[in-house]
Amino acid sequence: MNTVNDLIRVTVARKRREAEGICSFELIDTTGAPLPSFEAGAHIDVQIPGSGATPLVRQYSLANAPGERHRYLIAVLDEPASRGGSRAMHRAVQEGDVLLIGTPRNNFALAGSASREQTLLLAGGIGITPILSMAEALLQAGADFALHYCARSADRLAFAERLAQPAFSGRVHRHLSADPSSSRLDIVGLLQGPSAQRRLYVCGPESFLDATRAAARAADWPEDQVRFEHFAHKVQASADDGAFLVRLARSGRTIPVAADQTVVAALSAHGIELPVSCEQGVCGTCLTRVLEGVPDHKDVYLTPDEQARNDQFTPCCSRSRTPLLVLDF
Ligand code: FES
Repeated sequence: MNTVNDLIRVTVARKRREAEGICSFELIDTTGAPLPSFEAGAHIDVQIPGSGATPLVRQYSLANAPGERHRYLIAVLDEPASRGGSRAMHRAVQEGDVLLIGTPRNNFALAGSASREQTLLLAGGIGITPILSMAEALLQAGADFALHYCARSADRLAFAERLAQPAFSGRVHRHLSADPSSSRLDIVGLLQGPSAQRRLYVCGPESFLDATRAAARAADWPEDQVRFEHFAHKVQASADDGAFLVRLARSGRTIPVAADQTVVAALSAHGIELPVSCEQGVCGTCLTRVLEGVPDHKDVYLTPDEQARNDQFTPCCSRSRTPLLVLDF
């Protein structure tokens, strides 16, 4: 395997238009060696050459079947509100290009024993990418599952060919919001009757996740049987976002954070750089241990239980409920 500083050099072996505004990229090791194994729900960091000296780093879920070592398959939506990553992937990255990627990480793994459970997979738009990999894994395991895939219209369904294969017959349900002949997703009805054997995995736009979360709560789904994967998150400012101090335990330095500043920005202004990627509380790249004080969590990376422990936070977006936060940094 061809690596540089723990990153893997891969070639874009295939770039394909999957649907309106969505391209898939098949990545193979530049030497042809097997890539690290991964589990369904995993994502990789991709360094995308940008216009500046520093490459953009974005996370993309792997959409192919776990067990495949000869390639990674990702798909990218050409976002109108792109911060540069998806636009560059669509316009600048071509077949034959060499990219640097990280090894797969997984915050959205299938839990429990899928072969003894009923798994419900819900995908909205580009959220199909990790969900497709999960469907492939469940298919291989001979598990009982159903996949509901929502999009505006048929031309926006990515991986439609793969999902039309006989192996998925009877398990994949498409819901097209702009097509009057298509059935709407009855999310409330679908989530009725939670049981110890049912598990729910959801990936899509925030509004889709919010609607599913509300329906799951209303139907009394246990939190640990429901997993969400976010692609983006709008960090909510609140009226009581105030100034506070962070102390770096290892150096003893104390840095003020202004009311309109993130912790990452405040540290950077003092020459201290934390690793960041999404800067929206989604990816966990900036996760930092908290030794004293109470964070004001604004991320969607940590689970509610992890947030309640208050022993770590995401300084790209989260703040402090106490005048001082002491960080293990
Ligand atoms: Fe992604 Fe902070 S940089 S959670």
